[in-house]
Amino acid sequence: MITKKIKITERRGGVKRVLVIHGPNLNLLGQREPDIYGKVTMDDINSGLKKMAKAKKVALEIVQSNHEGEIVELIGKSGGKFGAILINPAAYTHTSVAIRDAISSVKVPAVEVHLSNIYAREEFRHTSLISPVAKGQICGFGKMSYILGLEAAIGLIGKK
Ligand code: DQA
Repeated sequence: MITKKIKITERRGGVKRVLVIHGPNLNLLGQREPDIYGKVTMDDINSGLKKMAKAKKVALEIVQSNHEGEIVELIGKSGGKFGAILINPAAYTHTSVAIRDAISSVKVPAVEVHLSNIYAREEFRHTSLISPVAKGQICGFGKMSYILGLEAAIGLIGKK
C-alpha cells in the first residue's frame, strides 16, 4: 500500500506563509503603559498585518502567548510550514536563551520587532538575546514596526 503523506509546506497551495508571534503582555496593548506603547491594540496591529498580507498574497498565522515554552514549541514546529517568522518577543527579548535557541534551531528566517525603541529605554532593555539569531530587528516605530517587519519577512521567504 502506498501512503501519501500530506505535508503542510511553507507555500501551501502556492501561498506563502508567515508565522506572527506576539510575546507576553502584548495582549494588554491599548491599556498597558499608553505613554510608551500608545493606544494601539493587538487587534489594530493584526488588522494592519492582515490587510498587508492580503495585498501581498501571503497567509498569516497569528499567535499571542504569555508562555515561553509555548513560544519555543511554536518556533520549533515552524520548519517546513512557514517561510518566515515575525516575532515581538516582548520581555523575553531580554531574558530568553530558549527562544533564541529555538530560532537558531530551525531553518526559518525570523524578523524581530518592537513597538518601542528598546535602546532609548531602561538599560536592561538594551540587550536583545534574540537579535543575533534574527535576520534583523526593527524597533521604535509603534504599529509601523510590525508592518515594516512583515515586509522584511515576506522578502526573506525561501532565502534561508
Ligand atoms: C517591547 C519592548 C520590551 O522591552 C517589553 O518588555 C515589551 C514590549 C516592545 O514592543 O516595545 O513587552 O517588545
